[in-house]
Amino acid sequence: MHIWEQSVKETQILRDCAEKNLSRKNYSYCYGELDDSRTIPNQPYPVSLTEEEGILLHALIKQFGLSNGYEIATAFGYSSSYIGLALTGQLYSLDCYVEESEGQMDYSFQRMVMETEKSRARVAAGDYPKGLSIARAMAAATGWIDRSSFVVGLSPNHVAELFPMGVKIDFAFIDGGHFDDQPTKDVAAIIPFLSEKAIVAFHDSRGNPSVANAIEHCRTVVGGGLVDFYTRHGISIVTKGIRSDEIEGFSRFLFREKMPLKRLYFGIAGKLGIKA
Ligand SMILES: C[S@@+](CC[C@H](N)C(=O)[O-])C[C@H]1O[C@@H](n2cnc3c(N)ncnc32)[C@H](O)[C@@H]1O
Repeated sequence: MHIWEQSVKETQILRDCAEKNLSRKNYSYCYGELDDSRTIPNQPYPVSLTEEEGILLHALIKQFGLSNGYEIATAFGYSSSYIGLALTGQLYSLDCYVEESEGQMDYSFQRMVMETEKSRARVAAGDYPKGLSIARAMAAATGWIDRSSFVVGLSPNHVAELFPMGVKIDFAFIDGGHFDDQPTKDVAAIIPFLSEKAIVAFHDSRGNPSVANAIEHCRTVVGGGLVDFYTRHGISIVTKGIRSDEIEGFSRFLFREKMPLKRLYFGIAGKLGIKA
């Protein structure tokens, strides 16, 4: 069985869990259920990656037997669970819960600093942000809570203090603030901790100049390969010590690659505002 099919099977437990505890974000044109994202019930933001994007991350981690991971950011732990299930080691996941508190994705760095302090004080008093509670519950329900470190904090400021001395990171997922030079700051903070053989995955890499700059920064500093995957939001992978042609094959499993005519149809329908 190809590793993709294996990942679809192994991650079904997450989708079952999400069906019970999370809302489905419906897009006006999509390729089916695996092309949907999730949200916390009755809350428009934050929004997770899609199921297909989660399966892709899971399959990549499994393919290379990666151990420790890092993620900015948790939100409510949906990407965390796809990543955490696949890793053999620890997942360090950071969030300041600014989107949960603001209910939108347009905020200043100053706002993030304030939210970090507020969220830390709340957690110290035993009052968890909803997203953090859901993330922990999902990690417990899907069997990897012992390998999870969900931390309330700010990127890039608190990244270095997340890891015990000597820990190296084999997989990093960059999906925090998507504006200005924030994604570049986010990835720059994790690069010094990368192992010799590592994968850095960027979410929302389709048409976002801030994310594009971060990808370019990472590729230049790490000196590795780059593979763009055509998913709903776009996932781009920078590899370190791994040949990029070893991962290109995964793209043939993606809806938009398998069904180019459907892609064209939905693309036009989407532009015209037709609900398909
Ligand atoms: C798009 S959501 C992450 C979705 C999640 N990765 C998933 O797919 O399930 C972005 C999250 O980044 C957090 N965030 C944004 N900038 C941050 C920063 N500088 N430090 C910590 N968290 C941040 C927000 O609070 C929000 O929860």
